[in-house]
Amino acid sequence: SKDITVRTLLRMKEAGEHIAMLTAYDYPTARLLAESGVHILLVGDSLGNVVQGQPSTLPVTLDHMVYHTQMVARAVTSLPEGTARPLVVTDLPFLTYQVSPEEALRSAGRILQEGGAQAVKLEGGAEVAPTVARLVAAGIPVMAHIGFTPQSVHALGGYAVQGKTLEQAKRLLADAKALEAAGAFAVVLELVPAEVAQAVTERLRIPTIGIGAGPHCDGQVLVFHDFCGYSPGRVPRHNKRYAHLAEVIAQAAKSYVAEVQAGEFPGPAQTVRLDPAEAARWQQ
Ligand code: KIV
Ligand code: NA
Repeated sequence: SKDITVRTLLRMKEAGEHIAMLTAYDYPTARLLAESGVHILLVGDSLGNVVQGQPSTLPVTLDHMVYHTQMVARAVTSLPEGTARPLVVTDLPFLTYQVSPEEALRSAGRILQEGGAQAVKLEGGAEVAPTVARLVAAGIPVMAHIGFTPQSVHALGGYAVQGKTLEQAKRLLADAKALEAAGAFAVVLELVPAEVAQAVTERLRIPTIGIGAGPHCDGQVLVFHDFCGYSPGRVPRHNKRYAHLAEVIAQAAKSYVAEVQAGEFPGPAQTVRLDPAEAARWQQ
């Protein structure tokens, strides 16, 4: 079958075929992205920012992630026969995997069992390798995430490129190697200089998926709302807007308000009327 699995992604890297990943948080979006050929749908904890309006991903809970994963997984399982199903990966949110590998396993278990995802993603380098190994041993595929890790925004002192010095770049490479050795099936590189991302990509057997990490990664990921121009306010420099949804929705809403106020909506096409005979009786 053409359905995307963790093995498909390894084969794609070997074949030099780039992987396209986007975040998705709900049923209609997931369905459209899947039908458009996106390989991986990430139920990212970025939903804290772009869906919930939070200042960071830290307030996002495991219950939130399960809830959104259910909507995305439902979209993928209900795709028409013959449509390739993307891999559904869900973020483990802050403090659901750091305390112990056992707690991480319980959290990841809920994401797969209740949510319906096929894999989880977690942030961190060599320090989370034992946790990655524990999940992989239990049959849960893990995507790693290094470079800028949003759940550590306060420790990192803001949104900034990581790995800009040789020492930091070597550390990033060592982290990537440790995560691969622990059994991760892919690694996200966020806000990393292109040269560093290229070096990591060349030295790993598993695919790298970049965001703000240049063109040499095995795949790319963007946040849905940023990608389609649906985010209010600041959008990161590395983002490319492939559409201008905010303008489309705002224009539609303005037209609607104007038509309602002018008495133009609903028109004849949106209005049900009585049959003439009933209408005649109604007049009496
Ligand atoms: O939550 C998210 O959207 C992510 C991607 C930016 C990789 O982690
Ligand atoms: Na995330």
